[in-house]
Amino acid sequence: MHVVILGSAAGGGVPQWNCRCSICSLAWDGDPRVKPRTQSSIAVSPDGERWLLVNASPDIRQQIQANRAMFPREGLRHSPIHSVLLTNGDVDHVAGLLTLREGQAFTLYGTADILGSVGDNRVFDVMATNVVTRQPIAVDKTFEPVLGLNVTLFSVPGKVPLWLEDASMEIGAETETTVGAMIEADGKRLAYIPGCARVTDGLKQRIAGVDALLFDGTVLEDDDMIRAGVGTKTGWRMGHIQMNGETGSIASLAEVEIGRRVFVHINNTNPVLVEGSPERASVEERGWTVAHDGLSLEL
Ligand code: MLT
Ligand code: MN
Ligand code: ZN
Repeated sequence: MHVVILGSAAGGGVPQWNCRCSICSLAWDGDPRVKPRTQSSIAVSPDGERWLLVNASPDIRQQIQANRAMFPREGLRHSPIHSVLLTNGDVDHVAGLLTLREGQAFTLYGTADILGSVGDNRVFDVMATNVVTRQPIAVDKTFEPVLGLNVTLFSVPGKVPLWLEDASMEIGAETETTVGAMIEADGKRLAYIPGCARVTDGLKQRIAGVDALLFDGTVLEDDDMIRAGVGTKTGWRMGHIQMNGETGSIASLAEVEIGRRVFVHINNTNPVLVEGSPERASVEERGWTVAHDGLSLEL
C-alpha cells in the first residue's frame, strides 16, 4: 500500500493566512525550522496508479501540483484520483470538493451524516451530479473504493463541524459525524484518524496491530491556542485530543501495538512544528513522527 500525506496541517494550514503566532511568524519569515504545510488530506493506493483521496482540502490544487502521482496522465481529461472519502464535514476536509469539478467522474464516500452536510449545500453540485456518485457508507461495513483497497469506517469521539455547531451540540460523542478509516491492502493495515476528542478502549482495540497510524496531532497541550495568545478555545472544545498528559494521545496509545505512529492534522499553534524544539524532540522520543507534506509510507 502506498500512502502520501498530501497535507499535514489542521484547518488554516501553516502559516495561516491571518496569523502571526510565534510559529506562523517563523514560517512567514522562511525560517527553515518550520516547514509550511497545507491542510489535512492523504492519498492511498494499492498500486501507485489508482488513488483514494481521503479528505478534500482547500489546498487540493496545490497538493496535486506538488505530487506527480496525482497528475492527470492519459488522454485529454484524466485523474488518478478514482474515489474521495470524507472523515468529517469540516471546511479543511470538504472545501477542496469545489476544486474537483470540470466534469470529472469519481465516487464520493462518507457516512450519510457527512455526505448529508455536503449534499445540503447546493454549491457542491459543481461536482457534476451526472458523473460524481455520492455513496453513503455505514460504519463498520467494509467497502472497496479502489479495487484492492478495503476500507472500514468507524465512529470516533468528536463533534459536528464548526460551521454546523449549535446549542445542542455535544463534544466527544461517538456518532457518524466524525469517523476514522481503517484502510487495508495486501494484508497491510493503515488507520487514519485526523480528528479525535478522546482515546477509548474500543479505539485502542480497533487499531491494535496496525502497520501505521496517522492520528490527530492538532494540539500538544489542551490550551495551545490560549498559550499562543490567538484564541480562547481548548483542543477539547474543538474535538481534538492533546498529545501530552495522562489522558493525551501519546500516553493513551503507548501500550497499543502500532507499527508506525504519525501525527497529522497539526495546528499552526502546536510547538512540535518547530524542528529542533524540545517539544518536537519529546514527541519523537516517545516514538512519534510529526508529518510534513509529501511524507510517504510504503506498507
Ligand atoms: C477542526 O479540525 O477543528 C476544524 O477543521 C476547524 C475548522 O473548521 O476550522
Ligand atoms: Mn480540521
Ligand atoms: Zn499561527
